[in-house]
Amino acid sequence: EGGSFFSGKFVLLTVGATQEPLDPVRFLSNRSSGKMGFALAEAALRRGARVVVVAGATSVPPPPGVEVRRALRTEDMLHAVEELFPAADVFIAAAAVADYRPKSVALQKIKKGNRLVLELEPTPDILMEMGKRRRSDQVLVGFAAETENLEANARDKLVRKNLDFLVLNDVSRADVGFEADENEVVLYDRWGGRFTFPREDKRVLADKLLETIAARLAAVR
Ligand code: C5P
Repeated sequence: EGGSFFSGKFVLLTVGATQEPLDPVRFLSNRSSGKMGFALAEAALRRGARVVVVAGATSVPPPPGVEVRRALRTEDMLHAVEELFPAADVFIAAAAVADYRPKSVALQKIKKGNRLVLELEPTPDILMEMGKRRRSDQVLVGFAAETENLEANARDKLVRKNLDFLVLNDVSRADVGFEADENEVVLYDRWGGRFTFPREDKRVLADKLLETIAARLAAVR
C-alpha cells in the first residue's frame, strides 16, 4: 500500500541550519549537519519525486540530482519556501531554524569589550506559516528536537503547526541525532498514529519514514 505515493509528486524540503548575522563576521545558529534532510531528499528522489531543497548551512554535500537553493537567514529561507510552497505536494521541514535573531545587525565588526548584551527578536516560524496557508491536499511533515517531555511536546507541535506528520528526535542523547550518521526517531501523525524507528543509518531511516508516511496516507485518506 502507498508504494507509489511519491512518484511524480513535488517534494519541497528545508534542510540544515539558518544563520542570523550579528555583524559582518559573526552569526547565531543551531547545530545541524543537514544529513537527515538530505537523506529524506534522496529517498524522495529515489521514489520518483521531483525534489527541491531550500538549504541553510550544511556540513555535508547535497545528494546528486537534488535541486538546492541556498538560504542562510531564516527570512531568506521563508521567502524561498513561500515561493515554492503552493506547487508542493509534500513539504518536509527538516531545517534547524534559528528561533531568534539579533534585533539589529552591526554594519562593522563589533569590538571586543567587557560585556555585550544582545537583544534578540523571534524569527518567523516557516513551518507554522505554511501550516496556516496549506491546502488539505498538501502533506506537511515537521521535526521536533526535544530534550524533555518528548511525547507531549511532539503531539502539541503536530496540532499547533497544523501538520500531518511529526518526526521526534531525542536530542539529549549524544549517539544519535546532530552530526551523527545514525538516528533513532518516533513518527507521530495527525490521525493518532505513533511509529518507532530503532537506531539506524539516516539514509535507511529516511526511506523507512517515507514508506510509513505513504502507507499511512493510503490508509487514512
Ligand atoms: O517549534 P520548533 O522549532 O521546535 O519546531 C520545529 C519544526 O518547525 C521543524 O520542522 C523546523 O524545521 C520548523 N521550524 C521552522 N521555522 C522556524 C522554527 C522551526 O520552519 N522558525
